[in-house]
Amino acid sequence: MSQLQTTEAAPAKVNLTLHVTGQRDDGYHLLDSLVVFVDVADRLTVRLADETALAVTGPMSAGVPSDPRNLVWKAAELAGLRAEITLEKHLPAAAGIGGGSSDAAAMLRAARSLTGHGFPDPAAVLSLGADVPVCLEPKALRMRGIGEVIDPVPELPPLCLVLANPGVEVPTPAVFKALTTKSNPPMPPALPPWSDAIDFCHWLGQQRNDLEPPARSISPEIARVIDALAVTDGCLLARMSGSGATCFGMFEDEAAANSAQASIAARFPTWWCASGAVL
Ligand code: C5P
Repeated sequence: MSQLQTTEAAPAKVNLTLHVTGQRDDGYHLLDSLVVFVDVADRLTVRLADETALAVTGPMSAGVPSDPRNLVWKAAELAGLRAEITLEKHLPAAAGIGGGSSDAAAMLRAARSLTGHGFPDPAAVLSLGADVPVCLEPKALRMRGIGEVIDPVPELPPLCLVLANPGVEVPTPAVFKALTTKSNPPMPPALPPWSDAIDFCHWLGQQRNDLEPPARSISPEIARVIDALAVTDGCLLARMSGSGATCFGMFEDEAAANSAQASIAARFPTWWCASGAVL
């Protein structure tokens, strides 16, 4: 008997670097980004049905649509699947960690395992959102173009991230609009091998998130989040992910990340905060 139900994790996507290298005539920006996924995830349960229905549950479900506007629903349609879907939200939406995109990619993985068909055409996947292609296979990857050019990267050392979000929504188009220089240098053509977390963070420190200055100008809270992460014990690097407002602190081991998360949660009880290993 064929499989009727499956579950998929939709892990947080973090842009460790995000270089904006140009702008296309249609307004979309050209990017060069080192993307990783963290073991902090939404959870998708998908059961084949006659009609599609979506329930959104979990601690971060407030305000997330449970109708065809949700990217998960659009992804199911794209895959030609009708299903009863439960989306358990643990990641904040519109927060620079690909919540919606990772959910959509998880839906496409669920559809593939339920139908045995491959992923939809790459252009159709991209049409769901520029971050959806990189989320299809959640592992460290280099993302270029507007999000459709995906390449492998050298093996990363073991790392843990603390993610923190002050609860302000920073709309992605507004952040891109506030970016004054659209043509910035890319990462080196070949990424170097990294010997350990210190070496990796030293290299990362020489790279950038070009969206961080414009996002900080729109929401000064972002600077507070980066500063709060940077002063925790063992934090090797603190930076914003995507177009914000979520920021990450990088740690060499799980114990340091967990205690940094606990200290952020105690100091800023209204912030969303989580920690997890890089997948
Ligand atoms: O594709 P997605 O819906 O995630 O993008 C949201 C918005 O971010 C786009 O409408 C566009 O304004 C901006 N964007 C961009 N260049 C990219 C990705 C997104 O300008 N590569």
